[in-house]
Amino acid sequence: MSNSPATATQVPFFRYPHLFQQQRDEILAAVTDVMERGAFILQRDLQEFEAGLRSFLGVEHAWGVANGTDGLIIALRAAGVGPGDEVIVPSHTYVASAASIHFAGATPVLVECGADHLIDPAAVEAAVTPRTRAIMPVQLNGRTCDMDALQRITDRHGLVIVEDAAQGLGSRFRGRPAGTFGAAAEFSFYPAKVLGCFGDGGAVTTNDPQVARRMMLLRDHGRDETGRVVTWGLNSRLDNLHAAILNVKLRHFEGEITRRRQLARLYREGLEGLEDMTLPPGPDGDPDHFDVYQNYEVESGRRDALRAHLEGDGVRTIIQWAGTPVHQFEGLGLGPVHLPRTDRLFTRCFLLPMNTSLTDDEVQYICASIRRFYGRAG
Ligand SMILES: Cc1ncc(COP(=O)(O)O)c(C=O)c1O
Repeated sequence: MSNSPATATQVPFFRYPHLFQQQRDEILAAVTDVMERGAFILQRDLQEFEAGLRSFLGVEHAWGVANGTDGLIIALRAAGVGPGDEVIVPSHTYVASAASIHFAGATPVLVECGADHLIDPAAVEAAVTPRTRAIMPVQLNGRTCDMDALQRITDRHGLVIVEDAAQGLGSRFRGRPAGTFGAAAEFSFYPAKVLGCFGDGGAVTTNDPQVARRMMLLRDHGRDETGRVVTWGLNSRLDNLHAAILNVKLRHFEGEITRRRQLARLYREGLEGLEDMTLPPGPDGDPDHFDVYQNYEVESGRRDALRAHLEGDGVRTIIQWAGTPVHQFEGLGLGPVHLPRTDRLFTRCFLLPMNTSLTDDEVQYICASIRRFYGRAG
């Protein structure tokens, strides 16, 4: 990773062309190979990618799907969630988590997140009703939830876990990777994700052979290995071309996680001690969590002024979900949902740039800009 000085003081939130430029030759070779073979749907590159994902995660079954949202619908349906069921999900998530529950025929029940911005197990416990069938922990910002606490709740009430690991690939809780805990899980390969392709893509995983079979049928028109339709299904296969690109990306993935964790360390060094700011947990010193920093979500008591100041210094920041947690969307028919902690968080939180195109100098530039804002140079 080059660390040339940040001469131009323009730090975009994400550099999409970098996704290609990073491994240009390898990607061009992979794409050309697929094109020349005319291998577009359900071909060997997809099988290789699924095998690569299984071995990376240490999970029994993985299927490539068209996108993470479809993956969640498939994971829920394959895990037996359907009409009449309630699924507990945090409100601090992409609308896709709740939408997938809706499209599986069930009802999303939105709950608060805790200090680390992930689903709060106490809020989950309080939301369980006789209709609750599943919990959907969201492995947000590249951090795995406290899965032990959630597991205790599911054991007590006979529920299943369906993980939304769209943002969590590579993160671990007590050594175990996100995407391997529940009855079923989903990942997204949207371009800005830790493992991003050049469009939409996703995967579903499970250790349960019956869930795995249902996933396979659901993603490909209900067709079995012989091509016979044995049940209803969707057309939601990961394109072979994207699988070939992801095979290249997966080879570089460990190095990219290491880089993201270095960047998180740099942010910590640069921003520690600013009382008005709350930083994400650091990458070191907590043996229970291995975080991959999909995002660097901070809090500030003067968020809007700080963002305007950073913008003036050429640093682009965003607020996740364009600033609206799911329970604040009035058009979803969920009725008034009272989540004061999430409401408060959404007056404070925003994302600093976090991706593998960032140089050390750029992170230091961002930190210096923030310290100037707070009148605390150096
Ligand atoms: C938390 C979360 N859940 C679900 C999704 C849906 O994934 P996709 O955009 O691939 O459908 C995303 C990403 O966009 C996400 O961040």
